[in-house]
Amino acid sequence: MVDLKASYTEIGKEIDAAVKNILSKSNFILGEEVKIFEEEFARYCGVKYAVGVANGTDALKIAVLACGLKKGDEVITVPFTFIATTEAIVQAGCVPVFADIDPKTYTLDPKKVEECIQHKIRNSSAAADGIRNLKAILPVHMYGHPGNMEEILKIAKKHDLKVIEDCAQSFSAKYMTADSRWQVAGSIGDVGCFSFFPAKNLGCFGDGGMVITNDNETYENAKALRNHGQRKKYYSEMDGFNSRLDTLQAAILSVKLKYIDKWTEMRNKVAQKYNELLKDTVAIPTVSENCRHSFNYYTIRFKNKAMRDKVQKHLLENEVACQIYYPQSLHLQKVYEEMGCKKGDFPVSERMQDETLSLPMYPELDGNKIKYITDKIKDVIV
Ligand SMILES: Cc1ncc(COP(=O)(O)O)c(C=O)c1O
Repeated sequence: MVDLKASYTEIGKEIDAAVKNILSKSNFILGEEVKIFEEEFARYCGVKYAVGVANGTDALKIAVLACGLKKGDEVITVPFTFIATTEAIVQAGCVPVFADIDPKTYTLDPKKVEECIQHKIRNSSAAADGIRNLKAILPVHMYGHPGNMEEILKIAKKHDLKVIEDCAQSFSAKYMTADSRWQVAGSIGDVGCFSFFPAKNLGCFGDGGMVITNDNETYENAKALRNHGQRKKYYSEMDGFNSRLDTLQAAILSVKLKYIDKWTEMRNKVAQKYNELLKDTVAIPTVSENCRHSFNYYTIRFKNKAMRDKVQKHLLENEVACQIYYPQSLHLQKVYEEMGCKKGDFPVSERMQDETLSLPMYPELDGNKIKYITDKIKDVIV
């Protein structure tokens, strides 16, 4: 799906020098390069603060706790995402509440969020009780397309909810706000959470993650939570975690960050090429006018599951990597059996689990390969 060696070939010398520098200093845990990278990352995102953590799942867990959510608090999110999104909510002691997605962008549908809130209010004796435990909305910028933040922020304001953005798949995606300002995804809500898993747009050489915010208290909490709840060494104020971004990873990420806009442009060009060749064959990704897609994944959609499965089989037989992100909507996962959700509860998510397929996507993917991949799809769908 990705060619990690391609970017290493391009910038290998810079990376090697950065790694050697850390090896010679041996400042492996919270070395100054972590702080430097946090500052660079915050600057890129246009926010005040960034906190490097061990991975994207921890970034979400720490963000939920850092912005003040407590045990039993509810968080509205999508069922069509990677399990890490809800895993983090549960690990923070909170309760995920699902709302369906928009079929065009695959992101949280604000109308479904409001419906979910109204349903909760109607089903309780006193209006306020229904949403007494509801404390946050957690949109996922799926595949690299930002969610409808304008509407999500309005709902959050109306019901006094925090907004925690899951940007694991969307680093460098942008969203134009009502006042025509481009904002980096993750900098729009109260907290943004990123993953540096190697296959992400900004990937490290192992695991890594980041929490960003403009709020000083959330920042201080996140900093303590990632390091055993300590604000001062050996004095813990809260239950925290061992979840620091390694200095080695921070040094590597600092090098890669300089190239991110170039790489995202290249990903957009790859997507355009795919679009040209596939637009009359399958449903190609939609990009909303007010968004820059970061194309962590290039995902197409078929008329039905049978067709999708047939194409997937044919691609794999012809040595083309492809993946279903994700084949089982979270409300149908065994781990959430106790939630009592059933088939049909989130029809858009269920359709997407059956009809979508992601194709190889990385900045250096060349035109010949794209042509070969799309030809193989057209072998099946004439
Ligand atoms: C939407 C989403 N959220 C969270 C994560 C978790 O990130 P990590 O693997 O760094 O823990 C991922 C990782 O793939 C993801 O795709």
